[in-house]
Amino acid sequence: MYHLVCVNCGATYPADEILYNCTKCGHLLAVKYPLDSLNINKAVWDKRPLGVWRYKELLPVHGEPVTLQEGGTQMYHLKRLGEEMGIPHLYAKHEGMNPSGSFKDRGMTVGVSMALQLGKKSVACASTGNTSASLAVYAAKAGIPAVVLLPAGKVAVGKVAQALMHGAKVISIRGNFDRALEMVHDLCLSHGLYLLNSINPYRLEGQKTIGFEAVDQLGGVPDRFVLPVGNAGNISAVYKGLLELQELGFIDRLPMMTGIQAAGSSPVVRAVRENLPEVVPEMQPETVATAIRIGAPVNAEKALTAIRKTGGLAESVTDEEILRMQRDLARKEGIGVEPASAASVAGIRKLAEMGMIDRDERIVCVVTGHLLKDPDTVIKQCEPPTEIDANLPSLLSALHL
Ligand code: F0G
Repeated sequence: MYHLVCVNCGATYPADEILYNCTKCGHLLAVKYPLDSLNINKAVWDKRPLGVWRYKELLPVHGEPVTLQEGGTQMYHLKRLGEEMGIPHLYAKHEGMNPSGSFKDRGMTVGVSMALQLGKKSVACASTGNTSASLAVYAAKAGIPAVVLLPAGKVAVGKVAQALMHGAKVISIRGNFDRALEMVHDLCLSHGLYLLNSINPYRLEGQKTIGFEAVDQLGGVPDRFVLPVGNAGNISAVYKGLLELQELGFIDRLPMMTGIQAAGSSPVVRAVRENLPEVVPEMQPETVATAIRIGAPVNAEKALTAIRKTGGLAESVTDEEILRMQRDLARKEGIGVEPASAASVAGIRKLAEMGMIDRDERIVCVVTGHLLKDPDTVIKQCEPPTEIDANLPSLLSALHL
């Protein structure tokens, strides 16, 4: 029913060919559905529970998926922060509420299901942490082995703990994420493991459901969709999905796709700002938001299209701005996210201050991962607990009462 298509030269490939790049020009692939003949009934979707599989007609999996009930995440109105920033219609979609605590689960329920559908016996990825945690979880559910490559010393402890506990083979390389991805890509091509980084077009299919859910939750299209950008897969996925909804006639316009990167790791922002045809990789990316510490985003080509075609923006935020927003979300909204996730909302604060956005816009920020993913960065920002002797006078004195 669907096939793969190269986003650059338009070459097409059968759906069951295991490919991560166009064999003709080397560019990225995408999944293309015959939307005219799918006969999707929105009323049927609306009757199903909110979640990835509500939209199964627009997903590539035929049989029963490998699922842990991912998606259906909360959409919060950021009332306090919105008031502070003068943006009354500011929302956060909390992807940290997925089974493994990040949006990656949307991609992995589809990706690991596709591994089985394509007859693959093992899966692999490189990761700044969350992808590895999610892959470990879904491989465990599927009962197949997973190999994950991490940049040594640069992955938050919660994510490593998950990958280990769920039984992946965890390899730390003395190099950064970009190098880990090259290595695992080579490994998969030479040894037949199924590669589940976001270069895999099927994984992104699952992630596009963030956009579908947001439209359903708001009862319409937001004016702006804001995502933290690392490997640039998620912003590309959401854009692709919304384009499909538009082609189906379910929505009549697209949101301005807006990508936020960490200042020390911002090749996409630079490409947008300088109007470059493609990104120039950053060789030494660095940021406290280790999830998005990526110098050579593999999906940059798709992300640049998403941002440019929708009149969106790309902006960078400093580590200080990221951490300040992590604290603000936690303390003013009760929303606990990891640093990379706070980047999207920090980016909106900055863009509003710069006068780059209309404050009346309806804005959805995707907050991508849970606070507990990176407890070290939390503890470093907070006062330690006050330890006291176990008696009431000590308690009263500690509370200045
Ligand atoms: N936010 C979080 C919490 C992430 O873990 C990632 C990516 C992103 C944002 C950026 O998404 O790569 O699609 O632009 N993490 C990947 C990983 C790279 O390995 O876990 P992207």
